[in-house]
Amino acid sequence: MTDKRLTIDYKEYASEQELEPQDRELARVALEAIRGSYSPYSHFQVGAALRLADGTIVKGANQENAAYPAGLCAERVAMFAASANYPDVPFDTLAIVASDRGTLCDDPATPCGNCRQVMAEYQSKYNRPLKVLLLGQKKIMKFFKVDDILPFIFDSLKV
Ligand code: THU
Repeated sequence: MTDKRLTIDYKEYASEQELEPQDRELARVALEAIRGSYSPYSHFQVGAALRLADGTIVKGANQENAAYPAGLCAERVAMFAASANYPDVPFDTLAIVASDRGTLCDDPATPCGNCRQVMAEYQSKYNRPLKVLLLGQKKIMKFFKVDDILPFIFDSLKV
């Protein structure tokens, strides 16, 4: 038996002003994307902005439905739209921001397990680290690969 420890590297910022210009721009688009949220059930609005390797930015926002499981998170809306509209352009950075009944959240919204798994698959498909930028009003976190928010990724493309 061996004791093991997993360490995760990420950066934390106190405000958008500390971000690199490209990330600041992505944060602005993610915020803009919130307008596309259709969330009459949770009243929790999420905006996502996905930068592709060629610089294209694809927006996503959470979509809900009276048949609850039919809805989709903002992150997956953005990733699926990008994959459908720009097939074979690798993903570079995914930014996410959330608001609760119209008030931007102080802490970053961290993606659900399903979204993490979808991120992992595109990261593997493109064989390129997908960066994840989680934006709160009081705290911003940047991860440099999906593995850091989804350790021990299930990767059917590699097994
Ligand atoms: N949601 C997202 O869009 N992304 C997340 O990272 C967390 C949750 C959505 C799903 C649902 O529409 C609402 O937020 C409340 O869970």
